[in-house]
Amino acid sequence: MKNKTVFDFYKNIKDFKFKNSNMEKSLNLWRKIFFKEYPRFKEILLPIPKVKRFDIFQSLLERKSHRNFVNGSASLNDLSLLLYFSCGIKSVEFSNISERVANYNYFFNSRMYPSGGARFPLEVYLVLFKKIDKIECGVYHYNVKRHSLIKIKKGRFKKTIKDKILLPVNKKMIKNSLFYICVSSYFGRSFIKYGELSLILSLIEAGHLGQNLCLLSTVLNLGCCPIHGFYEDEVNKLLDLNSDVEEIIYSFIFGRV
Ligand SMILES: Cc1cc2nc3c(=O)[nH]c(=O)nc-3n(C[C@H](O)[C@H](O)[C@H](O)COP(=O)(O)O)c2cc1C
Repeated sequence: MKNKTVFDFYKNIKDFKFKNSNMEKSLNLWRKIFFKEYPRFKEILLPIPKVKRFDIFQSLLERKSHRNFVNGSASLNDLSLLLYFSCGIKSVEFSNISERVANYNYFFNSRMYPSGGARFPLEVYLVLFKKIDKIECGVYHYNVKRHSLIKIKKGRFKKTIKDKILLPVNKKMIKNSLFYICVSSYFGRSFIKYGELSLILSLIEAGHLGQNLCLLSTVLNLGCCPIHGFYEDEVNKLLDLNSDVEEIIYSFIFGRV
């Protein structure tokens, strides 16, 4: 079945790359990689993740969407590992993970997921429902360059997420969940190079990042459910996103299973 609106929409975007290439115009601009930073907000450096051995085939077989969580907790290493290996920056220069994270002079163009034209429009946020080590409940931005969390808001937001953010069908999942990870896109970073195609590229990239989260969560014995059933404007509000430039596109809920 062909839905005309969706296909017309896709066709317009698809043609954009042939009709209107911005590449010549903004050559220098699109080489620069942009990072979101909150210089005046409190920063919590995450520890160097301790790597666990695992079997990729087993992880793929075990991956599934979990919607019922048991009472439990996650460790600081779980969180550090999940964030770093889903979306952190890597470098071919260092074989030692601690040097990679600690040294800021590495290549900024290689991360744990691929990005169209290495524009990296995605940003990652954490809403923590249960204290992990010294990290209190609240809303955080993941600073990918420093492998750190920036505290945006302190407080318990489980009820807000249940009442205002999740579609009715998803509300039950919040019970016993430990944290919620949101992925947004700063479309402009990709738009300067790819124009309207940047919408599609961002969604594809979020899928790559999301698969990393899903597979890593199986390694950590955490359950994870990808969620797109949310009210965008309410998520933007919770994360303090300026929706003129940045929009939530995907989210994931985690808990013990
Ligand atoms: C883009 C995307 C959005 C999704 N949104 C939701 C959601 O809002 N609620 C939900 O319960 N599951 C959601 N899921 C999970 C799917 O329902 C699930 O992947 C599918 O039923 C296949 O089951 P499995 O993941 O266990 O293999 C989403 C999955 C994807 C890829």
